[in-house]
Amino acid sequence: MAKLKVAIVGLGGVGAIHLEAYRASRAVEVVAAAEIDPARLQAAQARHDFKAYADYKEMLTGESIDLVVVATPVSTHEAVTIAAAKAGHHVLCEKPLAVEVAQAKRMIKACKAAGVTLFYGATYRQLPALRAARDLVVQGAIGEVRLMREQEVGGTGPEGRQIMGFAHYPQGGPGGSGFGLVDHGIHLIDAFGWLSRSTVETVFGRGNISGADAFPEYLLMNFRSGALGHLLYEDSTFPTSLPGEGMFSWGAGWDINGYVPPGLWQSAPGCIHVHGSRGALRIFHYANALFLTDKDGTRQIELEGRPAPGHFAAQVESCARSIQDGAPVEVPGEAGLAALEVLEAAYRSFEEKRMVTVR
Ligand SMILES: NC(=O)c1ccc[n+]([C@@H]2O[C@H](COP(=O)([O-])OP(=O)(O)OC[C@H]3O[C@@H](n4cnc5c(N)ncnc54)[C@H](O)[C@@H]3O)[C@@H](O)[C@H]2O)c1
Repeated sequence: MAKLKVAIVGLGGVGAIHLEAYRASRAVEVVAAAEIDPARLQAAQARHDFKAYADYKEMLTGESIDLVVVATPVSTHEAVTIAAAKAGHHVLCEKPLAVEVAQAKRMIKACKAAGVTLFYGATYRQLPALRAARDLVVQGAIGEVRLMREQEVGGTGPEGRQIMGFAHYPQGGPGGSGFGLVDHGIHLIDAFGWLSRSTVETVFGRGNISGADAFPEYLLMNFRSGALGHLLYEDSTFPTSLPGEGMFSWGAGWDINGYVPPGLWQSAPGCIHVHGSRGALRIFHYANALFLTDKDGTRQIELEGRPAPGHFAAQVESCARSIQDGAPVEVPGEAGLAALEVLEAAYRSFEEKRMVTVR
């Protein structure tokens, strides 16, 4: 089978990681990439062989491409995706699919009209610890899922907060920090529905506003299955972790201090808790460890697959299987839309001081 021809738009923080991860894949080759920052483009070219463009529109019409990976700031996802679809290319768009639900709907419509597939970059679904956790849930290992929760609280005070710029989230709309509800919580909104095999019915929450002072963010999601999802974020304070707590990370990934390479000691590695009627899972998604607790005690689950950043290659290979072999689309654009609908409902709930029904 010929390698899938991939073009990347945006070689910033995550685009450069996609590029590096794809190099290890035998299923895809990056034929071209577009980046408006000449220094970033040059730095990537020094390490990888691809045709470089400053203008992504030229790349879309000038190259033989199977899949365009959109890794630009969030507010540009709609324009890049629609241009790629109109040029006849399948699209893998990074999370969040867009800033607003209306944009996401237009993206899905444009891809349908052009007869191309819109894949949603729900990278958490590719992390080995999360995949193994879902397999255990599906096998019934923890019974009925009752509660899923994640929290990221810490930082170095308000000055140390890593705010996403207005290029990502326009001033006055939803936004905030890279470890907040919008930019990070969107992963969990999707992952909780996937883990519990349910959809969100009602929400109550509070998210930060781009350009405004920070406050603690939270989201309560009532799933149709009866499960509760809970997210809590605040990165303009300090952590409460004690010196003896933590673990060595077996994968790369992001924590509240930024991108962390594998092998480092982390005092508070990101983790997701899933509590069921017959057991519970503690998922260290980036540190690549998984623990199952039930009536027989706690044990570590052996993991297969590629931890971060290899999960970016696993994701694009999943797209390749759909495009080349007709395999079912693992995460369609509609999943990105559904996550945004939950987020928008959360903002509405706080404004209106009530629980809001999603769709
Ligand atoms: N899946 C994950 O784990 C993960 C992690 C980090 C970021 N992200 C997502 O990836 C996307 C990008 O985030 P980032 O942190 O890499 O942002 P970034 O700001 O570091 O990088 C974006 C890059 O896009 C370039 N760019 C902007 N407009 C462009 C255009 N018209 N043509 C070509 N290049 C253009 C910028 O110059 C910049 O280099 C966001 O949607 C973000 O939420 C996902």
